[in-house]
Amino acid sequence: MEQDTTTLFGPKVPDADHGFSMAAAPRRFGTGGQSLARRDGLAKVTGGARYAADTPLAAGLYGVVVAAGIARGRVAALNVAAALAHPGVVEVLTPQNRPALAQHPDEKRHPFNFRLEALQDDTIRYAGQAIAMVLAESLEAATEGARLLAPRYVSEPPRIGFEGSAPWHPGMVGFFAPPAQEIGNVAKGLADADVVTQTTIETPAQFHNAMEPHAIAAEWIEQEGRARLLLNTPNQGPVMTAALIAGYLGIAAEDVILRTPFIGGGFGSKLMVYGALLLTALAARSQGRPVKTVLTRAQMYGPVGHRAGTRQALKLGVGKDGRLTALSHEVQALTSSFEDFVEPAGRASQHLYAVPNLAMSHTGLRGDIGTPLAMRAPGEASGSAALEVAMDVAADAVGLDPLEFRLRNYAEVDPSTGHPFSSKALRECYAQGAAAFGWAGRPLAARSMRDARGRLLGWGMGTAQYMCTMYRGEARVTLHGEGTALAEVAGVDMGQGAWTILAQTAAEGLAISPDNVVLRSGSSVLPDGAVAGGSGHTATAGTALSQAGKAVVQQLTELALSDPKSPLFGAGNSGVLAVDGRLLRADNPTVGEAYTDIMARAGLAELAGTGVGERDAAHAGAYAMFSHGAVFAEVAIDPDIGQILVTRMVGAFAAGRILNPRMVRSQLEGGMIWGLSFALHEEAVFDPVSGKVLNDDLAGYHIPVHADIPAIETITVEEVDPYVNALGVKGVGEVGITGSVGAIANAIRHATGYTPTKFPIRIEDLAL
Ligand code: MOS
Repeated sequence: MEQDTTTLFGPKVPDADHGFSMAAAPRRFGTGGQSLARRDGLAKVTGGARYAADTPLAAGLYGVVVAAGIARGRVAALNVAAALAHPGVVEVLTPQNRPALAQHPDEKRHPFNFRLEALQDDTIRYAGQAIAMVLAESLEAATEGARLLAPRYVSEPPRIGFEGSAPWHPGMVGFFAPPAQEIGNVAKGLADADVVTQTTIETPAQFHNAMEPHAIAAEWIEQEGRARLLLNTPNQGPVMTAALIAGYLGIAAEDVILRTPFIGGGFGSKLMVYGALLLTALAARSQGRPVKTVLTRAQMYGPVGHRAGTRQALKLGVGKDGRLTALSHEVQALTSSFEDFVEPAGRASQHLYAVPNLAMSHTGLRGDIGTPLAMRAPGEASGSAALEVAMDVAADAVGLDPLEFRLRNYAEVDPSTGHPFSSKALRECYAQGAAAFGWAGRPLAARSMRDARGRLLGWGMGTAQYMCTMYRGEARVTLHGEGTALAEVAGVDMGQGAWTILAQTAAEGLAISPDNVVLRSGSSVLPDGAVAGGSGHTATAGTALSQAGKAVVQQLTELALSDPKSPLFGAGNSGVLAVDGRLLRADNPTVGEAYTDIMARAGLAELAGTGVGERDAAHAGAYAMFSHGAVFAEVAIDPDIGQILVTRMVGAFAAGRILNPRMVRSQLEGGMIWGLSFALHEEAVFDPVSGKVLNDDLAGYHIPVHADIPAIETITVEEVDPYVNALGVKGVGEVGITGSVGAIANAIRHATGYTPTKFPIRIEDLAL
């Protein structure tokens, strides 16, 4: 990895290359085959990886955000004079002097363009909102200046939680989904059922809590007579975000150069533009100096999104034969007072089980909170948690094993659209997961298993499903005369392995070893590989890179076939094969020549190709496309003190073609651990008086540690998908959470007889 430190906060004016290049990891770290080791692994574990906050600040200023301490009202006074009098403080940005923006922060021009707070007025819409920014020569001075502002407020009682919020009927949920759907007639389906079960579940607000805080290093440079903004900041969609920022600043999109070589976790919180990002860019422009701002952990609880709290009510109608006659899934989701994001939890029920009468609906509840946004497996994480508990309640009502009940309601076509699945190896996931877990022989009744220590044991399962997102992405691959290649795409590796997997896809398209491919990524000046989000990055950017590699091979083929000096000359009718850096005659593979020879004869030092990754529109309209899985969990519960320990988890997943088994396992395991976290740990607690999140740090906001995490086995089930994209890959980033929450909840239910009504499940809920 070469990291050029001279192009931001340094003397050198950057040239056209603002990307970050990564060569293959040494083979000694790999496991061979396709399970190549992370290219960024060594840099990360040795501290060599530099994050945005590590950008050296040469002759620049530190920005510190001042965050509102109340959730609703306005700022009555700030002691700006006291802050400015502090040594080292250079400027205090407030709504009175904040430089103008070309686009109002409450204007919306794009689905990913969220209303935000950039000191447009003195209104406070949630606790943690930026109400000022202090600029100083040192971080200490800026921090002290921020303290000296000592805001006074005019405060109104905040609307926090489900009570006291205003219901609101959204036009769409999530980013693009319809808010409601009814297939068939649910009322009739419920009336026709032999048994109707009702389950209500509450899920709390959760925060992304990426290890790396949001950080912005901004510098304006003069280049070719115009002002350009250089930004080092972690972002999941560099090209999209650079364009959105440019809109606010009133400059051309290409004049924002956004670079993000590493991300220390994003999970959806680094998809959006937020106030501090704009304020830092504005401050750097007005001061004519570089500015660096890093949000504190507490400041990440509000302006950068969270997973919305939900209240979900499910009604399932079941016949004596164990088949669903109706399924209704009603979702209430909390959102902010000023933006429209509604958690699409009902989507979990739309595509999973075969049911003739199916309805889901969403109501938004407005409160004085920061806008919730996408958080890993948005919609399905919360929706599947509730659905899978409801499925076990229904299975019990008809006396069926939970797995048998799910098999009886296996969807052969998408119940929401009637479309066939592009591929669906869920049955194999159930079978292989159950076998590995040892599910057979599970007693139906709750509280019927104990371990040698007298702990109550429970076994539960859940179905995992997540959509196969694909955006439109572009990429470029350049083959050099000596046989190595440069693959370029603006995307990011936020921990999921993109540095490695994307190089593999380019290498595959080119038919050369990934060891010979350098990947350049992490900058908005590169071809737009679209966002790393929605589990769609490998599908999108990977397909684009593979196509770009193939475009190079196509050019090599044309050169060889038309060159009388080539052994391939005249092979046109039977065609050629590209294998390991060589073109071979298809009808006689012993005849061929190396790419390097073809290029040398043609006098070419390099040969570039571009590619696009996007879904075939005909396939998108004809097939339902999902990753699937089956998660099995065992819990052991101390009957005296109620302590819950997850002792085993097995997840079997079908996600199309598996490009790098090692990294796929890491994604699936990470998802399952997040499922455990959702089931037992995570909850943001809002103070009803101030509206602040009380546990706004990693001490108070619980996530699992090693002692909480059991042995996890992941199985990937073979699945060939001819329709999802040219690579045949589905997403693996988010599907692991879905199913896992329900599996643990159902295991607790099996161990204790307690049906969860809210997450996280706590000792005191169990009433043992
Ligand atoms: Mo994610 S919530 O798609 O970053």
